[in-house]
Amino acid sequence: AAALTACGAGRTEKAAFVSPAGPQVRAAEQARRPGRVRDIRLVAAPAEGAAWAYNGQVPGPEIRVTAGEVVRARLVNNLPAETSIHWHGLALRNDADGVPGVTQQPVRPGAEHVYEFTAPDPGTHWFHPHSGTQFDRGLYAPIIVEDPREPLGYDAEWVVVLDDWLDGDPDEVLAELAGGMDHTKMSPNMLMGATSPLLGGDAGDVRYATYLINGKARQTFRAKPGTRLRIRLINAGGDTAFRVALGGHRLTVTHTDGFAVQPVETDALLIGMGERYDVLVTLKDGAFPLTALAEGKKAAVSAVVRTGSGTPGKAGGLDGRVLRYAQLLPHESVRLAARTPDRTVRFELTGGMAAYDWAINGRRYDPRDITPIRQGERVRLSFVNRTTMWHPMHLHGHTFALPSGARKDTAVVLPGDTLEVDFQADNPGVWMVHCHNVYHQESGMMTLLGYE
Ligand code: C2O
Ligand code: CU
Repeated sequence: AAALTACGAGRTEKAAFVSPAGPQVRAAEQARRPGRVRDIRLVAAPAEGAAWAYNGQVPGPEIRVTAGEVVRARLVNNLPAETSIHWHGLALRNDADGVPGVTQQPVRPGAEHVYEFTAPDPGTHWFHPHSGTQFDRGLYAPIIVEDPREPLGYDAEWVVVLDDWLDGDPDEVLAELAGGMDHTKMSPNMLMGATSPLLGGDAGDVRYATYLINGKARQTFRAKPGTRLRIRLINAGGDTAFRVALGGHRLTVTHTDGFAVQPVETDALLIGMGERYDVLVTLKDGAFPLTALAEGKKAAVSAVVRTGSGTPGKAGGLDGRVLRYAQLLPHESVRLAARTPDRTVRFELTGGMAAYDWAINGRRYDPRDITPIRQGERVRLSFVNRTTMWHPMHLHGHTFALPSGARKDTAVVLPGDTLEVDFQADNPGVWMVHCHNVYHQESGMMTLLGYE
């Protein structure tokens, strides 16, 4: 841990930050009262085609534990590059957060690394590398933390992971984007002029070859009519927001980013990169399309949900009412007690397509650039979007409250908009805040918060 540079080496000279493996972090982990240990092995390696995968499959193997259990995951790196694993959505010990150069050294090709942490809260989460654009090559999988006293009644559960699939090398696409847009000679990888009214402008930066549900372009899910189904939706895409609907059904949203909301019905959901929604639905008799529309990109992926005979109709719900954040209200069990923020951290989202200079407060990511916060504070993050693009902003190690009170760890900030979210600083360490568009993140829209 002494070799880690982030700790105490800040550009913010006065502050000495909590060390990711230091005594405060260990004490916080002990307070989670670690339970039974669950051993997991993840081998990251090149797979079929251009894919990189965990254990040879895309998505990788689902991890499923019960809240309070300890995940002990051995990562074996058989990739031709350094890698890491970030456990997106989990309020875990800082030294298991998987950010190379901040909470750990990168895992070199041929090397192994063991992540060991208590999974504190139930919820739908996922994991992926925090190393370059790697999660856009297929390195992603769900981690589901079950509630030992699950309050929801349902007969069956499906985990549905959405992805935008690039037939090629994301690093080359990033280099192309960063090289500047030549409007006369547009690369087929670049997406220009595609707009979405829901997102207030540009649909995204990158054109994908195809879109996938659980790694497949088409498939059939089967169940009995009348099944009360829980669907855990995860957007693992690199540069695509998905609008999701199940033909012939309305969806009852019960959770977002793993945290419970007051159940709310909707025709469709918009899911930004990194976001999750849990929904309940009682399946009718027949065949229905479960469709994820790549928002604004004029492309979609559908699976068939079949409980009886017939041909699936249209995914009508896509044209219906799409859930907005203002409709999400926190479930009593997860509501943050009202409190005036002790500190407001203003993050202006800056940059643009032309220079591909995505940044925060005009500064590209620098691991020495750490904004100090203190244990016990109520912190307000004020995201001010100065760009013409939407950005799904993600905070590590905590779950913030939207203005409506609903708890999330990733939230879309629309162009020209300001979004203020509050969180309780109760998990010591050094934590990332970044855009979950992998190309924006890698070009520099990423920064750090550190506990003093
Ligand atoms: Cu899923 Cu730092 O991200
Ligand atoms: Cu972004």
